[in-house]
Amino acid sequence: MSSVTDARRAATARAFEPALEAPEEIRLRVTGAIPQELRGTLYRNGPGRWEAGGFHAGHPFDGDGLVSKFVIDAGEVRFRSRYVRTPKYLAEEAGRGARVRGLYTQASGSAANIGRIPADSANTHAVVHAERLLALSDVGRPWEVDLDDLSTLGPCDFDGGLPRLTRFSPHPKIDPVTGELFNFGLDLAVGHKVPAGLRCYRVDPHGRLHNAGLVRLDQVIVQHDFAITSRYLVFALAPITVDPARAALAMLGRGTYGDAADYRPQQGMRIVLVPRDGGQHRVIECDPFVYVHIDNAYDDGDDVILDLVRYDSFDFLTTTLKDFRNRLPEMGKPARMRITKSGRVERADIGELDALEFPMHDERRTGRAHRYSYFASYHPDRDGAIVKYDHRTGTEHRHTFTGGEFAGEPVFVPRSTKAEEDNGWILTVTYLAAEHRTALIILDARDIEKPPVAVAHLDTHFFPGFHGSFTTRVSAVG
Ligand SMILES: [Fe+2]
Repeated sequence: MSSVTDARRAATARAFEPALEAPEEIRLRVTGAIPQELRGTLYRNGPGRWEAGGFHAGHPFDGDGLVSKFVIDAGEVRFRSRYVRTPKYLAEEAGRGARVRGLYTQASGSAANIGRIPADSANTHAVVHAERLLALSDVGRPWEVDLDDLSTLGPCDFDGGLPRLTRFSPHPKIDPVTGELFNFGLDLAVGHKVPAGLRCYRVDPHGRLHNAGLVRLDQVIVQHDFAITSRYLVFALAPITVDPARAALAMLGRGTYGDAADYRPQQGMRIVLVPRDGGQHRVIECDPFVYVHIDNAYDDGDDVILDLVRYDSFDFLTTTLKDFRNRLPEMGKPARMRITKSGRVERADIGELDALEFPMHDERRTGRAHRYSYFASYHPDRDGAIVKYDHRTGTEHRHTFTGGEFAGEPVFVPRSTKAEEDNGWILTVTYLAAEHRTALIILDARDIEKPPVAVAHLDTHFFPGFHGSFTTRVSAVG
């Protein structure tokens, strides 16, 4: 391993040092010039601390959710951040972190884990819909956070609409035409003979939750993401199951729940198309593979196109990520699937792309054909980058960071509501390893190789987070 690689790994690891929250609004120092037309708020969520009050996380997924916001207005950037006040966070603040059980982290003392489910960290996505800001994760249910001061308002069950024992997954999709939010959640209370199901939801633009179908499962699976088209909710169900014996042992406190996840390629993969209009869903079997995130899906005539980021093995999510304080895994390869009306499934890698994650597109194209995709790139032996791919021409453009920067998810913001796809900016929260602090970097999407249009600098650091949302809403100065 080269000394450059060693240095990059060591620098990146410092991104996982605990972050302080910034509950009072801070005006950030800006270099370059924030475009006057760029106005709105970028909300982010991600784990911000992994050690607190005696808790010591065994996996990045067990860090406490830190919601941050960058208000961009009149050429200025205002910032604040707050941890979500989950029971886990409050226990750590009270010095009882050693008794907290995470997804991959055991509470100290063998008896402390018996019968206890993993604590909710609320650390995966910050979604804005119907005047609500929701902090979401796989492990828990939604938390509502104040759009302005980021204080935790409490759990959100959509006025009782979200059934007990049902999750609300961290990757809802908002239809840009109808304003509806679609999502699903693993339901462990479907019935005695059916152990689980994926319950589908539609949240209307007024924030009311409606049922949108149930996909019954013959076993519990781990399912992080999905997609919508104009006609369907689209699921690609990889055979990442929960081993019943290991889950039972975890319930008895022996081993973590996270380690009960088991990739079983012999079971194959199922594509499930759930009609948005409420009809019977369709199941199509295909060859299995591992993936975490979906970019987008759309109807292509009678076919469905599904873009995602695949991995060669399941180990990156379990074994490698547990060593997050020392190294990070190489990321995945973008791939496109075509699901034909006749039930044939084709899959091909997209160009020569590799080492990419956090696939994004212009969200005005969600559920519709998109020309451009944007990714963050991480590879232990290369400089970090933001990568843009043009699906029409098959060309790749890349903004490369040369100082050990560790870029988060690239969020596209159009120059105006009517601007063409790719005519706008890429906003990415980035950890600046050399200075051990974090910044918001703004790139011109059409000239992504060029230096940033502007950078808004924090004096402190936080991990760039997992996912977030941009909204044109702007809070008053405060
Ligand atoms: Fe995710």
